[in-house]
Amino acid sequence: MKKYAEMTRSELELERAEVQAKYDELKAKKLSLNMARGKPGKAQLDMTSEMMDILKSDSDYMCDGIDVRNYGNLEGLPSCRALFAELLGVKPENVFCGGTASLQMMYDTIAKCYTHGRVNSDKPWAKLDKVKWLCPAPGYDRHFAISQSFGMEMITVPMTSEGPDMDLVEELIRDGDVRGMWCVPKYSNPDGIVYSAETIRRIASMKPAAKDFLLMWDNAYCVHEFFGDYLPFPDILGECAKYGNEDMVFEFASTSKITFPGAGVSVFACSEHNMEYVKKLLTVQVISYDKVNQLRHVRYLRDKAGVLALMKRHAAILGPKFRCVLDWLDREIAPRGIAQWQKPNGGYFVSVNTMPGIAKETWRLCKEAGLTMTGAGATFPYGRDPKDSNMRVAPSLPPTEQLEQAMEVYCISMRLAALNKLLA
Ligand SMILES: Cc1ncc(COP(=O)(O)O)c(C=O)c1O
Repeated sequence: MKKYAEMTRSELELERAEVQAKYDELKAKKLSLNMARGKPGKAQLDMTSEMMDILKSDSDYMCDGIDVRNYGNLEGLPSCRALFAELLGVKPENVFCGGTASLQMMYDTIAKCYTHGRVNSDKPWAKLDKVKWLCPAPGYDRHFAISQSFGMEMITVPMTSEGPDMDLVEELIRDGDVRGMWCVPKYSNPDGIVYSAETIRRIASMKPAAKDFLLMWDNAYCVHEFFGDYLPFPDILGECAKYGNEDMVFEFASTSKITFPGAGVSVFACSEHNMEYVKKLLTVQVISYDKVNQLRHVRYLRDKAGVLALMKRHAAILGPKFRCVLDWLDREIAPRGIAQWQKPNGGYFVSVNTMPGIAKETWRLCKEAGLTMTGAGATFPYGRDPKDSNMRVAPSLPPTEQLEQAMEVYCISMRLAALNKLLA
């Protein structure tokens, strides 16, 4: 099989006729497939439903001497804080457990910067002329949506195989208007890249000109291996503390992809100083979060070993789905030389970089043939991918049979988009 770039015009025309015919055939099937978002599939949710039966009698609601059904314990159930402390490698007093969705906590952390400022701000960010924000990209679209909704000026920082381009980051943080940065340090969304020890050291030791610089460390995939064993990962709070930067960072995590995205527990972890400050603000906002659900999680997951055992069961479902995606790409796309992709061991995505200028068209062709993909461009600030190349494949939701079909549609659409571009 020849690479498309090496084909003559007549070879390309022949190939296009074949691919177009195959595409029309798939389109005629009127499929309805979705690889747009990193949602756990039904088999994963069903597997975890047993957690909901754990609390039965009145006495089951007692934990740590607390009746979890009542008000109180703003910062969360002590046992739940201890569980997450073990997972993240921090102290329980550095952990705050909330309700479902860490995204809400991230939004709220930033909202508080705008309304009240940070622990070491001169004034609330809403009173600043400008807030600039570093956005490693490709990245998580919802992070960028938060930044955009607060009117931040987003600055794209390219990702390397070791994490964000730190030479550029170190240059950019000399600007006092640069007030923070998004990071997904383990199995980044969408690339699945694990930040290297050196990248983490350089991030933890940053000396930004803005003294209230906020490192948003979204460790959403901290225990989410689908191939191979759990990969231990440095604790960012401890790393930052080594360089006198303990107040710079807020770390986030949740059980959205451990138990349920619709009924999980989210956490942030931060320095004692930060904790005291945000608790003062949060206590006005809420009396306590859902401690009943926190207790369910504690009883069900027990400890880090319990979490890792459950993640192995998720991996048994997810691993074959990722294998399916990678096999299709290796078989149908690699020999034609029209895209490259990461081969992650964890997280929820495969990040595909097509030849420049065909991601949007591939997305459109997929859509017309009944396959919804994450919008091309979504992985970049303002939805603008300068090369029109990055596409995020999310294989977790469709059952395996549907995934095979979805990948067939995806590969054929990409080939057709590439041929149309080359023949234009
Ligand atoms: C990097 C990242 N952070 C956060 C989330 C959402 O987390 P939560 O469900 O805890 O709000 C996702 C979901 O896809 C994600 O990929």
